Amino acid sequence: MLAKRGYHVVALTGKENESDWLKKLGAKEVMLRQSLDLKKIKPLDKATWAGAVDNLGGEVLAWMASTMKDNGVIAAVGLAASANLNTTVMPFILRGASLLGINSGESSKDIRDMVWRRLATDLKPPLLKEMCRTIPLAQLPGVFDDFINAKISRRVVVDLAE
Ligand SMILES: NC(=O)c1ccc[n+]([C@@H]2O[C@H](COP(=O)([O-])OP(=O)(O)OC[C@H]3O[C@@H](n4cnc5c(N)ncnc54)[C@H](OP(=O)(O)O)[C@@H]3O)[C@@H](O)[C@H]2O)c1
Repeated sequence: MLAKRGYHVVALTGKENESDWLKKLGAKEVMLRQSLDLKKIKPLDKATWAGAVDNLGGEVLAWMASTMKDNGVIAAVGLAASANLNTTVMPFILRGASLLGINSGESSKDIRDMVWRRLATDLKPPLLKEMCRTIPLAQLPGVFDDFINAKISRRVVVDLAE
């Protein structure tokens, strides 16, 4: 979605074998999470990102905050890695960075309508079919361990009719 709007997108992943897929989706570069030194996060590090979307929380979000450019914006979406956030105020007061929270479940109908409309038009994600695989409800328990161990890639749709 961001690539379509002209941004230079860098994807951060733990799965090296998903690089080609991420590039197909629009990433210009793919970074491996394992390449980050998350044990030594400085209050301010090299200013790199104008914007970021984070679904991990924890150390990755702290690292993102420390590497935002002036007036950069982070959308905090999830806590797949951790609910904790150990950072400093430095990115916020010295670089004007912003941390925006998003709660899709409690968003108003007006906002949802606007988002869904745009997701169906100018922001429509490419390759939606390739992004999902469908499983019957009976197979769902077998997938949970893979989710917990971060082994899943792409989306899993559960067909309740089967
Ligand atoms: N804010 C909201 O309104 C809202 C709505 C729905 C969901 N959420 C939250 O958004 C987050 C992401 O949801 P999702 O369905 O995309 O989750 P997911 O499929 O479980 O995880 C997404 C990716 O995060 C990485 N990951 C998972 N566990 C990790 C770990 N322990 N350490 C480091 N990386 C890890 C993996 O990336 P790689 O495959 O690239 O390694 C994984 O593919 C969840 O925390 C969910 O609760 C928020």
